[in-house]
Amino acid sequence: MQAVAIDASRLESILAKHKGEEGALISVLQEVQGEFGYVPKEAIERIADTLKLFPCQVYGVVTFYSQFYLTPRGRNTVRVCRGTACHVRGGRSVLRAAEQILGISEGDTTEDYKFTLETVACLGACALGPVIVVNGKYFGKTNPRRMETILKQYD
Ligand code: FES
Repeated sequence: MQAVAIDASRLESILAKHKGEEGALISVLQEVQGEFGYVPKEAIERIADTLKLFPCQVYGVVTFYSQFYLTPRGRNTVRVCRGTACHVRGGRSVLRAAEQILGISEGDTTEDYKFTLETVACLGACALGPVIVVNGKYFGKTNPRRMETILKQYD
């Protein structure tokens, strides 16, 4: 996927509020991600400069917390369960269908940034397997044919 240039002035206006605040790293990262949808790699050095940290410290925090992303995300996030209960009911074929329909592999985002496809260990609704979640909405007893219908609902 191609890198997207960020609007530096939007980044600078966030950083201006936190100059020298070493303890503000998480808040700054949340604000940056809120603004851009992810933490752009080119922002890491500027964040480090502003908070008087090393870039590796900023990078370490971004990669430690699963809430932060280093690449642009799709407008819609599709999570397919890979847990055992879903697996035995055909979860793997549901994942394959999602990959085929979207033209991406798990962990990837479509070229038009419409979808990001992820897998999770369990979505906590095992009795309804195979389960997927799109933008927080649960769909139970899914199958490859239903995937197309479900995904068509999202722009
Ligand atoms: S194993 Fe899929 S929801 Fe629990």
